[in-house]
Amino acid sequence: MTTAHAEYSLARFPEDPRDTLRAWDASDEYLLRQLDGTAALDGTTAPPVELSGTVVVLGDRWGALSTAVAASPAPHTTVQITDSYLTQQATLANLERNGLAADAVTLLSSQDAPPVRVDVLLVRVPKSLALLEDQLLRLAPAVHEGTVVIGTGMVTEIHTSTLKLFERILGPTRTSLAVKKARLILCTPDPALSPPPSAWPVGYTLPAEDATLGAAAGLTVTNHAGIFSAERLDIGTRFLLQHLPTRQGPEQVVDLGSGNGIVGTAAARGNPEAEVVFVDESHQALASSRATFQAAGLPNKARFLLGDGLTDLPPGSVDLVLNNPPFHSHQATTDAAARRMFADSRTALRPGGQLWVVGNRHLNYHVTLRRLFGNCVTIGSSPKFVVLRATKR
Ligand SMILES: C[S@@+](CC[C@H](N)C(=O)[O-])C[C@H]1O[C@@H](n2cnc3c(N)ncnc32)[C@H](O)[C@@H]1O
Repeated sequence: MTTAHAEYSLARFPEDPRDTLRAWDASDEYLLRQLDGTAALDGTTAPPVELSGTVVVLGDRWGALSTAVAASPAPHTTVQITDSYLTQQATLANLERNGLAADAVTLLSSQDAPPVRVDVLLVRVPKSLALLEDQLLRLAPAVHEGTVVIGTGMVTEIHTSTLKLFERILGPTRTSLAVKKARLILCTPDPALSPPPSAWPVGYTLPAEDATLGAAAGLTVTNHAGIFSAERLDIGTRFLLQHLPTRQGPEQVVDLGSGNGIVGTAAARGNPEAEVVFVDESHQALASSRATFQAAGLPNKARFLLGDGLTDLPPGSVDLVLNNPPFHSHQATTDAAARRMFADSRTALRPGGQLWVVGNRHLNYHVTLRRLFGNCVTIGSSPKFVVLRATKR
């Protein structure tokens, strides 16, 4: 990525030599040109933005913005706030790739307390409006009259509702011209605004009398902002819950990509001797899983692992993996993430251990599972979904 003052070598995480996707886009470049004073806004160029005090980068995808901001010689502190473990790992790798120290950026998650004062707020608009709202509300008390607030995103990602959020939470907001299908959001903080605290997390209780929910019936689910299907139970998840295996005895169960944790919590409820490991790359998801499990008041042992798939679990240590794979991995729409989760599961399972997957019928997961495991059984099937089981031989 080339800016007015420097060139950066950047990669996504995990790095995959077959992956030709860049680790930055036109919206990152546009924002950096605005900071450098070389962006043409409405036909004129704005003066460079002075980086000083605490500069917060919210929603950076692969660390491109954080790396470039940290590399700026102006005396300032760079703080990144993200929901994603993959973003944090990409940022650390990109800092190193560009000769910067790991502590050149303070890495905070969307669950951490934000800095008490923010002097420059740079926002790469996230896919989830709920996450943006939650994070802006959390940051609002730290924003002051002099805070420079600039958002950026591709035109397809910036909607009237996005601008209204900035307007309602921080102050008057306008957008720039679109350049290479990217747009800037320029916001002037209004200290007179006093937005309410964030309404997230939100919860709902699954009906106790709904026998099709199996062990999940009556459980209360907690959802932090931005997680998968935060407002209601996903229909694919519901289909998996209907078909969960009923097993007894001590065993290691993994809820892989646990989201709000309902699948792992139902598995724990079905087998009080199971130890359940909830794994997700999203801080918001893992906090939700923890809250859902704790609210159930079950006797099971549980662990909550922030990470990329199952790479942190010892090979051959797991009896059962339950998985509703992501169909948009992080930022890219691809089934590569699902394939990686299946391969990870095969490694983590002991011989005889099983992977149970729910997926949209048209995704043809059975082909991938059969290739990886040499077997795949259909446990349940509806016009839309299938639940598949693959056994490690
Ligand atoms: C389709 S959602 C399923 C969530 C939950 N199990 C449910 O059924 O409601 C997929 C989950 O996988 C997580 N995820 C995506 N990529 C991941 C990765 N590389 N490692 C771990 N979790 C990941 C997402 O954050 C998301 O919570």
